Amino acid sequence: NRKKDFLGKRVLITLGPTQENIDPVRFISNHSSGKMGFEIAKAFQHAGAIVSVVAGPVHLDLSQFTTHRVTSANEMFEVANRLHSEQDICVFAAAVADYAPSEIAKEKIKKLDSEAVIHLKKNPDIALELGRKKKPNQLHIGFALETEQEERYALEKLHKKNLDWIVLNSARDEGAGFKVDTNKVSIFHSSGRVTHSAVIPKSEVAQLILNEIKLG
Ligand code: C5P
Repeated sequence: NRKKDFLGKRVLITLGPTQENIDPVRFISNHSSGKMGFEIAKAFQHAGAIVSVVAGPVHLDLSQFTTHRVTSANEMFEVANRLHSEQDICVFAAAVADYAPSEIAKEKIKKLDSEAVIHLKKNPDIALELGRKKKPNQLHIGFALETEQEERYALEKLHKKNLDWIVLNSARDEGAGFKVDTNKVSIFHSSGRVTHSAVIPKSEVAQLILNEIKLG
């Protein structure tokens, strides 16, 4: 009975992109739709978990969850950090912008006749920061989207961010990654266990991830 597998477990899921303001009318962002995180949130909710979602700007109906909508990486970090200690499981599915403009211009930046330069500063790495204070009874799951040396980079992130699982989607595969409803993943556990999937709907990837967690 799948319904009871995560009964009463507290699960935090970050999803979607973040937007980093340049000036009052412009921002830096990415193509994340939040669909993978959404499917994971639904799967946990069906399995009886108490789900909290921290969502960047996405076009998804998140009304079935306790949802915190945020815009920037700093806001996402602030909310996730506040909720972290009470969670049993954290899933870092957000495509957090790595950089934000060093300063947000108060007024709309004027067009120049020359090249323009935007100075960027590094954003907080939410999975890394929360990984530093992860307790032994907490489980952290991250994602990696790579275009080359996929397995190597995924394993580096698994260790660096103190994750228990990392889900690798290769940007090289048709029907995987941003925007589409399907995905093809490899799931690496810190113990060395690996599970590979075919190209399957993101809802099935979510179920696969829950199954892996259940098996431990
Ligand atoms: O961007 P990167 O490939 O390092 O992302 C790997 C994992 O870390 C993902 O689970 C992502 O959600 C998380 N991450 C984060 N905060 C960042 C960058 C990435 O939580 N600033």
